[in-house]
Amino acid sequence: MPSLKITVIGTGYLGATHAAAMAELGFEVLGLDIAEEKIDLLRAGRAPMYEPGLEDLLRRHVAGIEGSTGRLRFTTSYPEAAEFGDVHFICVTTPQKAGEYACDMSYVDAAVASLAPHLSRPALVVGKSTVPVGSAARLGQVIAGLAPAGPDVELAWNPEFLREGFAVQDTLRPDRIVAGVTSERAESLLREVYATPIAEGSPFLATDLPTAELVKTAANAFLSTKISFINAMAEICEAADGDVVRLAEALGYDDRIGHKFLRAGIGFGGGCLPKDIRAFMARAGELGVDQALTFLREVDSINMRRRAHMIELTREALGGSVLGRRIAILGATFKPDSDDVRDSPALNVAGQLHLQGAQVTVYDPKGTENARAVFPTLRYADTALAAAVGADAVLHLTEWREFGELDPAALGEVVTERRILDGRNTLDPAVWRKAGWTYRAMGRPTA
Ligand code: UDX
Repeated sequence: MPSLKITVIGTGYLGATHAAAMAELGFEVLGLDIAEEKIDLLRAGRAPMYEPGLEDLLRRHVAGIEGSTGRLRFTTSYPEAAEFGDVHFICVTTPQKAGEYACDMSYVDAAVASLAPHLSRPALVVGKSTVPVGSAARLGQVIAGLAPAGPDVELAWNPEFLREGFAVQDTLRPDRIVAGVTSERAESLLREVYATPIAEGSPFLATDLPTAELVKTAANAFLSTKISFINAMAEICEAADGDVVRLAEALGYDDRIGHKFLRAGIGFGGGCLPKDIRAFMARAGELGVDQALTFLREVDSINMRRRAHMIELTREALGGSVLGRRIAILGATFKPDSDDVRDSPALNVAGQLHLQGAQVTVYDPKGTENARAVFPTLRYADTALAAAVGADAVLHLTEWREFGELDPAALGEVVTERRILDGRNTLDPAVWRKAGWTYRAMGRPTA
């Protein structure tokens, strides 16, 4: 049984999953959040967001739940967390600043400022949030100035690469563990945290602080670039009558390129990739090397063009205007297996069509509640079939598995016009066309 005690500060996608995973690995864990309602949910073994497998893990470990190991508890108290933990993981959000590209560090800064004055015994503070390079060194100084235990409290940076929808799996079986450290003691503590049977086998890379911070932003910049690359190819395919899906398939067989992240469509969204590439550009500017990342401006604008193009295709399909036309939208979240609608291309397209006068009805298997909070004026249906009733066009915008299993014939019975636009290129054109639908995709031939 591991002897280190762990606190996890922030219980969003990252923190809630990390806390539960650490308990699964055998640690005594205390999760902290300043939002009482999240703590209440977690104490009851409920996840504050939809994430496959997370509630099972919570129920297995949250103290007070019948049959649980009791290894996982939650609090809103910083003094309690400081007293409890040997290793404190900072997992709070780093959103985009309103009206700018830069990262809003206020949540990380507040977490450190709230924790550090209570650290009166040796401890390691480990940042996991995605931050602009240089933040860790700055926060290390802040901690040194505030912690009563002085040099016995150190800072390390250990970025997290989890994907929503796969958060539990990615946390328990990470592709790699990156540990930005400034001392052997910090490195050996982090090695101890990850020296568990489950995380064994993942490469462990000890680096300096800036490199650790950069691994995360560079990874997200690379992934975004890959998606925008294939979406640029989709623009070319559309102009030249090529098929971007076949192109991507053929490209992917080259091991140096690979098949992953080559799905063309309405582009990337979510709480990470869009804001991370913008924050990266802003930070490069501050460092005086903005030219190194000007290509990311292009990556961002190719991505945003995809949403505009989907709207253009819809308008075209409906004879030049969407005014008064009924449009069924399948999907509101930024990706399947998540209820997250942050910077969701699907919801953005739905909202823009609504603002252009279309009668939009949205169906999403898990994201309706969050979508309604952002866009209360849209109509929401409880099933794909209900959304499609009377529709002049159906838009497939998030590739939930259930949309791939829809029966085109049954859907065809309820719509006004059998017209479908596939914004994710995951439906089978042959199946839909055979059932009498006009199928249009992004970057693929029209028939
Ligand atoms: C991403 C990174 O993958 C993860 O490593 C990091 O820790 C956080 O950011 P996430 O935001 O959960 O994870 O989603 P991801 O699976 O990367 O997808 C991001 C967006 O790209 C989604 O909107 C998705 O639909 C889109 N996407 C992905 C494409 O449009 N095409 C693809 O080929 C892949």
